Amino acid sequence: MNKLCLLGLLVSLASHSAFADTQADALKQKNAFVSDLLKQMTEAEKIGQLRLISIGPEMPQPQILKEIAAGRIGGTFNSITRSENRPLQDAAVKNSRLKIPMFFAYDVIHGHRTIFPISLALASSWDMDAIATVGRTSAIEASADGIDMTFAPMVDIARDPRWGRTSEGFGEDTYLVSRIGAQMVKSFQDQSAASPTSLMASVKHFALYGAVEGGRDYNTVDMSPTKMYQDYLPPYRAAIDAGAGGVMVALNSVNGIPATSNTWLMQDLLRKDWGFKGVTVSDHGAITELVRHGVARDGREAAKLAIKAGIDLSMNDSLYGQELPGLLKSGEVSQQELDNAVREVLGAKYDMGLFDNPYRRIGVASEDPADTNAESRLHREAARDVARKSLVLLENRNQILPLKKQGTIALVGPLADAPIDMMGSWAAAGVPRQSVTVHDGLRKAVGDRARILYAKGANVTDDLKIVDYLNFLNFNHPEVEVDPRPAAAMIEEAVKAARQADVVIAAVGESRGMSHESSSRTSLEIPASQRALITALKATGKPLVLVLMNGRPLALSREREEADAILETWFSGTEGGNAIADVLFGDYNPSGKLAITFPRSVGQIPMYYNHLSIGRPYTPGKPGNYTSQYFEEPNGPLYPFGYGLSYSRFELSGFALSNKTLNKGGKLEASVIVKNTSQRDGETVVQLYIQDVTASMSRPVKELKNFQKVLLKAGESKVIKFSIDENDLKFYNTQLQYAAEPGEFSVQVGLDSQAVEQQSFELL
Ligand code: NOJ
Repeated sequence: MNKLCLLGLLVSLASHSAFADTQADALKQKNAFVSDLLKQMTEAEKIGQLRLISIGPEMPQPQILKEIAAGRIGGTFNSITRSENRPLQDAAVKNSRLKIPMFFAYDVIHGHRTIFPISLALASSWDMDAIATVGRTSAIEASADGIDMTFAPMVDIARDPRWGRTSEGFGEDTYLVSRIGAQMVKSFQDQSAASPTSLMASVKHFALYGAVEGGRDYNTVDMSPTKMYQDYLPPYRAAIDAGAGGVMVALNSVNGIPATSNTWLMQDLLRKDWGFKGVTVSDHGAITELVRHGVARDGREAAKLAIKAGIDLSMNDSLYGQELPGLLKSGEVSQQELDNAVREVLGAKYDMGLFDNPYRRIGVASEDPADTNAESRLHREAARDVARKSLVLLENRNQILPLKKQGTIALVGPLADAPIDMMGSWAAAGVPRQSVTVHDGLRKAVGDRARILYAKGANVTDDLKIVDYLNFLNFNHPEVEVDPRPAAAMIEEAVKAARQADVVIAAVGESRGMSHESSSRTSLEIPASQRALITALKATGKPLVLVLMNGRPLALSREREEADAILETWFSGTEGGNAIADVLFGDYNPSGKLAITFPRSVGQIPMYYNHLSIGRPYTPGKPGNYTSQYFEEPNGPLYPFGYGLSYSRFELSGFALSNKTLNKGGKLEASVIVKNTSQRDGETVVQLYIQDVTASMSRPVKELKNFQKVLLKAGESKVIKFSIDENDLKFYNTQLQYAAEPGEFSVQVGLDSQAVEQQSFELL
């Protein structure tokens, strides 16, 4: 090592240890501050800090102000302006005895005022910069509205698309979800959760919520320890390692014990094994639900179980307030247990910078925005860019797309002009009239160069019971408006438009409430009313482009036959219509790849690409008896994980490994050439999968271990390199030891999870 390097190393070591010292000092200061405050608090004030109350009908504003002033509330959620939050903060820091600041939380999931595509769509971008933009922009907008904490990211692995909350997560894959979850945390919190433009992230729903049986929301979760550790837990851990200040605990039980009363989950795993130092929060009403789970006799026992297990903040649940005094008096809950929970809440407030300045995000009244929904507060350009990157082109027969901005275009379908649906569920403070529909986007894109004929063509569903269900969800007003005309008349109108057109674009799929909390489905098909429309459009013989809007994989076998092109647009947010038009007309070349498998039918579920090896696998092209298959329809997914087309064509070649063996502690390089063989610049995602061929237990047929999104000019090629080391090969064995086992590994690269090239090496 030359002198310069040595000097550099010493400087970096010194600055590293100086940094560690500063961190240790900061932690000491924080602990001293919290301990000192704790000493001054009465028991009632301590219990008050554990209550997180929703602003709304549960507790009207005057009562909330009184409770805060009496020190009986620690934080609130669901208020979304500085002027709403200011009086609440005033009540705490001006009127309460100890002047402990409040904190304000909200579900800022995929945007705040500007709505970005839903999380499942963001994951389909495989674009970490785009994801960072979403987290940062959301935090900037929400903090400017006086919000301190978000109940996000949601990193529940979803492998059963019947589950309505599939839309809220980042898909089925552990590696991808972990990377995105960590990035979201970093972007929400930025350099420090105390920054005035940061939100503290509360990762959710701990744990395994995505694995509810049958995809039915709130149902039980029963899972083997290896699957848990290998597939479902890593994303929460990644978010925590990225610094998430909070953890929201799941509503489901885990192998019989509700997460909310699960000591193993919250203490052994979260705090002891993972070293989590932040605050835990129950989900809405979850402590009361312990009685219905059948693990607590009554509210008193529920409160006792929850606090003992490690729930710090109780969300919209009066039980801590009602029951903790008695439980402390009888000694069933110890002073120490109470203090531990309060310590975490105060610590979180400290970390959010609220003791320094309780108004750091609320600001002063004279600087409040005159109109919270002002256009100038939106980040439209960023929203459009991210939305374009999230769209996935599923089909494009005869290169019907991109379309020309000329002639006559028929735009039909119940989702063609649906501003509310465009935002998707959990649209925070988004305002429907600010979202660009497909109709708006198309009109703007073509100007007077082409004629657009619009007809609704069908209702989202003709099933009025479903309409009632959707309108009964907790949205502010009925969202699904039923056109009273007979279905046949609506179809006829659409067909008439189609006949006059050169091409038909049908915006079909789900209304946003269909992919929402509690909205589990038994079918993955596009509702019958819309399927009838599609069939009638097909019968006109005109080229048919489906613009899908939905929050989960749909079963699209029939649509695949009928349509010439299918563009999966999810729920794309405020700028959705513009982004969709950009792709339809080729102003943007689609690059999204599915972050979740699309099955052929609901009967194939669960279906995910990284399933374990089995004894009698079905081999495509080799039909035979007694293999693992369904005999009524083709096997395998309709669209695999990682799949998505582009207007460019890409080819992989020259896949090679730098070595045929790998030593523990060593490195191996996988390299592949990717070439854009088309006339068009475009982006694709090169994906790296690894399989542990023989191990002490059955291992997945492949697992995503890395990827690179790459931009290639027409005709250009690049060499893509991935470094592989022992860490990429580790897994939890049946004893839950995390280690790599020597032996053969298969490395696969592809532009989706199915069409891969393969090489192998041996771990020594
Ligand atoms: C219930 C949901 O399960 C959770 O995700 C959300 O953060 C809370 N309600 C608060 O709105």
